[in-house]
Amino acid sequence: SEFAKAINKQLSGLVLEHREILALLAAGPKEQQELFALADAVRKRYVGDAVHLRGIIEFSNYCCRQCHYCGLRSANKDVKRYRLGEEDILLAVRRAVKVGLKTVVLQSGEDRFYSLEQLVRIVRLIKQSTGMAVTLSLGERSYSDYERLREAGADRYLLKQETSDEGLFVRLRPKTTLAGRVQCLKWLKELGFEIGSGNMVGLPGQSTGTLARDLELMRELDVDMAGIGPFIAHPQTPLAGMPGGTLDMTLKTLAVARLLMPEVNLPSTTALETLYPGGRKLALQCGANVVMPNITPVSCRRHYSIYPNKAGIKDEPEECLDSVKKLIAELGRVVGTDRGDRNKK
Ligand code: 5AD
Ligand code: SF4
Repeated sequence: SEFAKAINKQLSGLVLEHREILALLAAGPKEQQELFALADAVRKRYVGDAVHLRGIIEFSNYCCRQCHYCGLRSANKDVKRYRLGEEDILLAVRRAVKVGLKTVVLQSGEDRFYSLEQLVRIVRLIKQSTGMAVTLSLGERSYSDYERLREAGADRYLLKQETSDEGLFVRLRPKTTLAGRVQCLKWLKELGFEIGSGNMVGLPGQSTGTLARDLELMRELDVDMAGIGPFIAHPQTPLAGMPGGTLDMTLKTLAVARLLMPEVNLPSTTALETLYPGGRKLALQCGANVVMPNITPVSCRRHYSIYPNKAGIKDEPEECLDSVKKLIAELGRVVGTDRGDRNKK
């Protein structure tokens, strides 16, 4: 079969082409078990048993964009908007240090309220007062903004491509383009950031071919991290009521990502746990090696409603971390003890 041929080609160490990636993504229920086992073996061989934890602080849910899939789009007036000040961000960071996290991810909507100077100051303060790796996820910005943030000490930047289908991209993300987003990722890489991209699985109008190209684009960009999660329709968006991504397709996409990019950091996403309780564990057995516990102050968390019923909405960071550590131990894995930079082979 095409699937078996693609698996054999992968095993012989050759670079898979589009149609072979497609054949892997099209794996049926029996074949996918083989795919998952192979991805798990590749994960073990290239990045080992360590699961790296990244504490995420969603510091503002204001956003000037209108992405059709996202509950934080500015047209959604039912969101209670919040912004954390410098003090509260630093408080959350100190708590993260205390529980042993080695990376903090600062994420927000595209919120122009914070000046670049303010962002630079926050990054500097964190870098000066902790040994943490700092990941930023602030959306599309200018080259010079990225440059200043990098100079301030930021280590990594997350900016998902979301979809590699240009037509779908412009329909779902008004006033932005795929080329513009890819340009940002290239700038970030050039500036020495570790870069994270990613996509949503099951977007309306997406085909298996789109997913294959999503993965090819990530491979081409040589991303250090790939955030792959299911699309979950939000009731207060233009995509309300649309079917979302499935557990199987999301796991297959993760597994294929691991095969195509053996040393990439691959998070087991909250969106997958939201879609299917226990999904986070399954992802860790299909190639994933990163978990991102939410350390946003609990009072704000439910308002960062990108999609509905987001998992882990009420646990304090300490509890959240305990359950993640328990899960890692159950799987016979270990919590990463270093920053978990991408290990370039
Ligand atoms: N379902 C799943 N993921 C979503 N995101 C935005 N909206 C949704 C949704 N409805 C993801 C995007 C974005 C990240 C912050 O959240 O991939 O990059
Ligand atoms: Fe804003 Fe990001 Fe949501 Fe788009 S996906 S509306 S940019 S928070």
